[in-house]
Amino acid sequence: MMGGGGSRIVICVLLTVLILAFLSSGFTPVDNYLIDCGSPTNTTVGGRVFVADDSASIFLSTPKSTLASSSKSVTSGDNSPLYQTARIFDETSKYSFPIRQPGRHWIRLYFNPFVSGSYDMSSASFDVSTPNHVFLSNFSVKTSVVKEFSANVTSKDLVITFTPSGNSFAFLNALEVVSVPDELITDDAETFNPAGRLKGLSWQALETVYRVNMGGPTVSFENDTLGRTWVPDKSYLIGNNLAINVSNIAAVKYVGGGATRDSAPNAVYGTAIGMNSENDPNSNFNVTWEFNVNPGFQFLVRFHFCDILSSSLNYLYFNVYIDSWLVAENLDPSGFANALAVAFYKDFVTAATVSNKLRVSIGPTKTIPGAYPNAILNGLEIMKMNNSLGSLSGPAPDVSDSSSKKNVGVIVGLSIGAVILVVLAGIFLVFCRKRRRLARQGNSKMWIPLSINGGNSHTMGSKYSNGTTATLDSNLGYCIPFAAVHEATNNFDESWVIGIGGFGKVYKGVLNDGTKVAVKRGNPRSQQGLAEFQTEIEMLSQFRHRHLVSLIGYCDEKNEMILIYEYMENGTLKSHLYGSGSPSLCWKDRLEICIGAARGLHYLHTGYAKAVIHRDVKSANILLDENLMAKVADFGLSKTGPEIDQTHVSTAVKGSFGYLDPEYFRRQQLTEKSDIYSFGVVLFEVLCARPVIDPSLPREMVNLAEWAMKWQKRGQLEEIIDPTLVGKVRPDSLRKFGETAEKCLADFGVDRPSMGDVLWNLEYALQLQEAVVPGDPEDNSINMIGELSPQINNFSHTDSSVSAAKFEASSVDDLSGVSMSRVFSQLVKSEGR
Ligand SMILES: *[C@@H]1O[C@H](CO)[C@@H](O)[C@H](O)[C@H]1NC(C)=O
Ligand SMILES: *[C@@H]1O[C@H](CO)[C@@H](O)[C@H](O)[C@H]1NC(C)=O
Ligand SMILES: *[C@@H]1O[C@H](CO)[C@@H](O)[C@H](O)[C@H]1NC(C)=O
Ligand SMILES: *[C@@H]1O[C@H](CO)[C@@H](O)[C@H](O)[C@H]1NC(C)=O
Ligand SMILES: *[C@@H]1O[C@H](CO)[C@@H](O)[C@H](O)[C@H]1NC(C)=O
Ligand SMILES: *[C@@H]1O[C@H](CO)[C@@H](O)[C@H](O)[C@H]1NC(C)=O
Ligand SMILES: *[C@@H]1O[C@H](CO)[C@@H](O)[C@H](O)[C@H]1NC(C)=O
Repeated sequence: MMGGGGSRIVICVLLTVLILAFLSSGFTPVDNYLIDCGSPTNTTVGGRVFVADDSASIFLSTPKSTLASSSKSVTSGDNSPLYQTARIFDETSKYSFPIRQPGRHWIRLYFNPFVSGSYDMSSASFDVSTPNHVFLSNFSVKTSVVKEFSANVTSKDLVITFTPSGNSFAFLNALEVVSVPDELITDDAETFNPAGRLKGLSWQALETVYRVNMGGPTVSFENDTLGRTWVPDKSYLIGNNLAINVSNIAAVKYVGGGATRDSAPNAVYGTAIGMNSENDPNSNFNVTWEFNVNPGFQFLVRFHFCDILSSSLNYLYFNVYIDSWLVAENLDPSGFANALAVAFYKDFVTAATVSNKLRVSIGPTKTIPGAYPNAILNGLEIMKMNNSLGSLSGPAPDVSDSSSKKNVGVIVGLSIGAVILVVLAGIFLVFCRKRRRLARQGNSKMWIPLSINGGNSHTMGSKYSNGTTATLDSNLGYCIPFAAVHEATNNFDESWVIGIGGFGKVYKGVLNDGTKVAVKRGNPRSQQGLAEFQTEIEMLSQFRHRHLVSLIGYCDEKNEMILIYEYMENGTLKSHLYGSGSPSLCWKDRLEICIGAARGLHYLHTGYAKAVIHRDVKSANILLDENLMAKVADFGLSKTGPEIDQTHVSTAVKGSFGYLDPEYFRRQQLTEKSDIYSFGVVLFEVLCARPVIDPSLPREMVNLAEWAMKWQKRGQLEEIIDPTLVGKVRPDSLRKFGETAEKCLADFGVDRPSMGDVLWNLEYALQLQEAVVPGDPEDNSINMIGELSPQINNFSHTDSSVSAAKFEASSVDDLSGVSMSRVFSQLVKSEGR
């Protein structure tokens, strides 16, 4: 008996010891890469070994990297040994880490700029990205900093790419890629604007922008099971005298269902800020912290609570606010587990912020009679969520970002004659300069997406002081008061309607200063419409291009969803092709329109680190200005690609009937190549001037794509072209055009050309149509092109590096406003002599 009891006690003690050992050892990351860049020796920091990285690393692939080490002690107060050395990258370089356990990983980047040889790291500027997300773009840093990101990595490798901006270089002092416990960031969180729940957090890349220990000192990474650092709240607190410190670290309890040591250490839960009520039961104020944030992003805000203040249960009730939103009312922290000092946290996701400040407040409640006015907050984390482009970085970089070095190299790669090279290089240099100028202008026009339903828009609107004057003169005139929109459209005059779409009606309008605008007014809010509204604003605010319709402003007052665009005098391409009685367009105009639209789409696909897929390419979404210049419109369905929809199968296939990529339809897999397919349909539509689906026709003719492909494959496309074009299209031009459209309609996305290729081929088709050397008989000039064409044609679609090259050349003209045809005529002339 005694013996049995004794062994039970021993077992209990052993178990307890085991459990305690288990708890205190905390989480052991499966993937744990710690790299001390540029260092010849391993560096141990807080018991963690950062491995030397001064020779060829199995993780690093780089064309050229320079090692740097600081002779002096580091510039800032933080003299971590990790900051003494760095790697410098002059060209795009990648770290690639095998991932043993899929799931969220920290990616911590350590930067400490110092001067090494000819490199002054504080002048470096570069991008850091993974295949799915952009972490930093055009990033530069003046003092030491650790940037902490996290992302769910489901591939077998995590590749982190460092890309220098322009002629600059990139650098890095140390790097961590470390598994995060699955429970730390769950898939959903509460939203409050509008109230609900947000799912899909596991797909978000996050950047920790603030991690704060309220009412206590810094908690360093050595004292955090997940290697995080918590900073004191003092510098964020508004009105020091309103707050008091509370501390009782020993009392903190972690219970099942609540927070764990991995959520935050007890050093964080055991200190807090309370209201400095000075025993006045009538105290009525909030304690507020204010944080600088990048506007235009959503944030995941995590509040850590632990009632170390109360002496009895259900004594403390308070309200929690984010900005002016009441996110938790009558919160009773002892109610979480019916015990005092139990650690727990609450997550909220904000709407995309308009302001560059985010405020967090706690304050007394008025609705619980007799509640003593007090409130408590123990810790706070603010994490920036990637935007719909997958980016965590501020405004999108302009395309002009790509380095001139690269472009010149690419043009050399074309290996055409030296004369041509000189011509191209000359043109290129001129355009480069223009391009930079454009980039500068572009950036200053960048504006901020709104918060849907956000009260802030009204205050922004207040700069139209009398509420009815909306003018275009300001670069910041984005939020336009409802009254101004009302006036501009003659009270939404039905006779001013110029289009009706799924989203709602489009009105013609005139702003006070005489600017013509198109006003798209959403149907009363549906969730669907709301999402598209937001997407479109976000997209258009980041993408500015001659061949994309620009957004002038929006209005979300009074539950309205109104978008205001530049007015496109000549309406849709579709209306010029059939059904409206407009005079028919000549072949050259049609080609130029196709080229313009292709440029706009090419920019969407490549102009940003992550491709943007339009998803609804059709002739009704290609608009024409007074000079018949084409601009792509309607980004409401846009998505960044390509992987997204693989996992969101539930997102119904969107797009327009007759233009839909059959592969997307079958596999619900969205890539840029779906846009290419739709664009191919548009090309046939332009050529044949008939609807893409016409049920009134005999069966085999109903679907234009099928019908035209049949004739194209037979080599008899001329049989079905728009009758008004008969005899006016040069056979070579038609052949090139037909081939281009055919390639776009390939069954499988991989077989379709890129938009850059399509663009090049359309330019070429135009050139074949236009080619006339002055004074020469037409046939002769065609022959001359014919002689050249093998050379040009040889940049066929097979070699992707060359096709990328092709587009680099075209993009030159893209920004210059001078047609590529000039380059072609130079080709013709120089050969001809
Ligand atoms: C650094 O640490 C790694 C792993 O901990 C070890 O394999 C390597 O030999 C060490 N290198 C040096 C230079 O001490
Ligand atoms: C990149 O940043 C530098 C300085 O931080 C700035 O001068 C430059 O204009 C930026 N470039 C772009 C394309 O944003
Ligand atoms: C990561 O993504 C996968 C695939 O969607 C998902 O099953 C998993 O739950 C996610 N993990 C985390 C920690 O978010
Ligand atoms: C709270 O404690 C921190 C250090 O832990 C100190 O810097 C701060 O001044 C204190 N604040 C108040 C209101 O006492
Ligand atoms: C960790 O916490 C303990 C006790 O709170 C403290 O004595 C120690 O200095 C901390 N370590 C670091 C590196 O901050
Ligand atoms: C606390 O802040 C919220 C949000 O800004 C505000 O609505 C509330 O009136 C404030 N309470 C007090 C007592 O000032
Ligand atoms: C963040 O990126 C993911 C794809 O990696 C995307 O699914 C998600 O919608 C993006 N977040 C936002 C808020 O747009």
